[in-house]
Amino acid sequence: MVNYFGTPQIETDRLILRKMVLSDANKAYDHWLSDERVSDNRVSAAHKTELETIRRIEKIVSNYPNKDFCWWAIEREADNELIGEIDLYDFDNTTGNCEVSYTVGFHWWNQGYGTEALMAVVEFGFLHMNIHKIAAAHNMDNPASGKVMNKVGMVQEGIIRHKIRNAKNQYKDCAIYGILQEDYFMKNEKDQNCILSIAK
Ligand SMILES: CC(C)(COP(=O)(O)OP(=O)(O)OC[C@H]1O[C@@H](n2cnc3c(N)ncnc32)[C@H](O)[C@@H]1OP(=O)(O)O)[C@@H](O)C(=O)NCCC(=O)NCCS
Repeated sequence: MVNYFGTPQIETDRLILRKMVLSDANKAYDHWLSDERVSDNRVSAAHKTELETIRRIEKIVSNYPNKDFCWWAIEREADNELIGEIDLYDFDNTTGNCEVSYTVGFHWWNQGYGTEALMAVVEFGFLHMNIHKIAAAHNMDNPASGKVMNKVGMVQEGIIRHKIRNAKNQYKDCAIYGILQEDYFMKNEKDQNCILSIAK
């Protein structure tokens, strides 16, 4: 059975994963939601106005009272810069499985932040929430995301042709990845390799 805790604050070496707040809208818009270099790898189109971002964050914030809503802002601890977001979603209570999605602003790519955030959320999902399996998918023309998944121990399970059609009306083949809780525990020798701390 999955244990739901909502979106608690999670801290890693360099990052604070925390709830989003409305005042994040300006940074979220500037840092990733309006940037086509980022949105080309996501399903949703780049935002054209900050109001779109405000509406999106209002929706996220309104969901925080739900215990099964897990959506974190990724903040850099050193300077409190908002650099991205990560969420667990599509929980299936029959299987205990869910999916993960993540985004880091272009300016902060290739500095290990995506991996650090995903590793923390995977660890939180398996150790604290008792999730059975975490899955994710990336466009075949976005290999950096597959690299991140690999680095946290997710394995590629297949490729689904034309799984998505993006905002530019392009169909994309996607690679599907997953990691089982038992694989995670075997790899990390339960509780001995924790990278995160959870704020009470
Ligand atoms: C995918 C994403 C989150 C990665 O974030 P990040 O902070 O740059 O990730 P990391 O720095 O932890 O790791 C990136 C890895 O990809 C590698 N990489 C970068 N570009 C690459 C490319 N074109 N081909 C292969 N590997 C690539 C980097 O070298 C690094 O691997 P390494 O540590 O072994 O050198 C970020 O690029 C992003 O937000 N993209 C847009 C949104 C997105 O794709 N989200 C995921 C949807 S599934």
